[in-house]
Amino acid sequence: MPLMTTKPMFDLAYDGGFAIGAFNVNNMELAQAIVEACAAEKSPLILQISKGARKYAKMGYLKHIIDAAVEEYPWLPIAIHLDHGDTVDLVKTCVADGFTSVMLDGSHHPYEENVKITAEAVKAAHAAGVVVEAELGMLGGIEEDVVGMDAHEYEKNVEKFLTDPQQARDYWKRTGIDSLAVAIGTSHGAYKFKHESKLAFNRIEQIMETCPGLPLVMHGSSSVPEEFINLVNKYGGKMPNAKGVPEAQINEAVTKYGVCKVNIDTDLRLAMTAKIREVFATKPAEFDPRNYLGPAREAITGMVRRKLQANVLNCAGKAEAVIAQWKKLGSPLPAFYTGK
Ligand code: G3H
Ligand code: 13P
Ligand code: ZN
Repeated sequence: MPLMTTKPMFDLAYDGGFAIGAFNVNNMELAQAIVEACAAEKSPLILQISKGARKYAKMGYLKHIIDAAVEEYPWLPIAIHLDHGDTVDLVKTCVADGFTSVMLDGSHHPYEENVKITAEAVKAAHAAGVVVEAELGMLGGIEEDVVGMDAHEYEKNVEKFLTDPQQARDYWKRTGIDSLAVAIGTSHGAYKFKHESKLAFNRIEQIMETCPGLPLVMHGSSSVPEEFINLVNKYGGKMPNAKGVPEAQINEAVTKYGVCKVNIDTDLRLAMTAKIREVFATKPAEFDPRNYLGPAREAITGMVRRKLQANVLNCAGKAEAVIAQWKKLGSPLPAFYTGK
């Protein structure tokens, strides 16, 4: 049963010139679309669940949907990850729910507090065989809301929010994290840049130097495809000036600078919304949810399949190698699954 932690995935991605896509799941159609795309492309994947997703869908439902996917594709390497966990208690709950990976995001706390809660989360998760991602620096979008800053104010001052390479090393050594989410100029959501997209690739390079062997994660990595924004705007939506990270820049971060995990949520939401709007506008008599959620699911599958290709994440075809690596490590699974 290749449900696994992210370790075998990152072992290979670290210097393999590819990254694992981490896709947010909030309902059945999203989970099915993502898993179908990754199965079709034989690509390892991370299904990630936020606190908001837990609240919206209820964890029991999400867990059973993911279990169904694991049953349907038993050869597909899948990790279940908590996205932006904000407390050690939530981390512990997710470990008890069968997550194989968790994120403790203490990046909005003062540094010493971030170190303290991250180290606590690592201790609890590792004791159960679960790996931990944490974050240093500040991304735009959701996170600037925490400190009450306008998105464009963030863009103007981005330098001072980027991850500090020396601090990253201290943080890694003091907490024992397994991967690090870095702030390199990306933002969450559909409005990432007012001007041109500009990522601080040199920061990735510097952090790779101060933290050799530590897999790096890029949040806020949706590309906000024009195709979906145009559909949304054509069919009654209002998303002017939406802008994401061009796929070529994601590819550069992955293949040239070694980023191992790329988080994508906004593009899933956009694909779903665009298709549903299109059906509603072009078939106003339609009222069977299967006839708008179905096309939405198909659009998501197509979009995810494109992201797995060599010109973006380059992880299509890597499933078999990841499974071999997992077996080489002794097929490790969290205590939830082994009862040990
Ligand atoms: O980075 C955040 C993800 O897009 C999850 O968003 O908290 O609205 O589920 P959410
Ligand atoms: P996007 O908003 O760019 O999809 O980022 C998602 C993310 O980082 C989830 O943690
Ligand atoms: Zn994020």
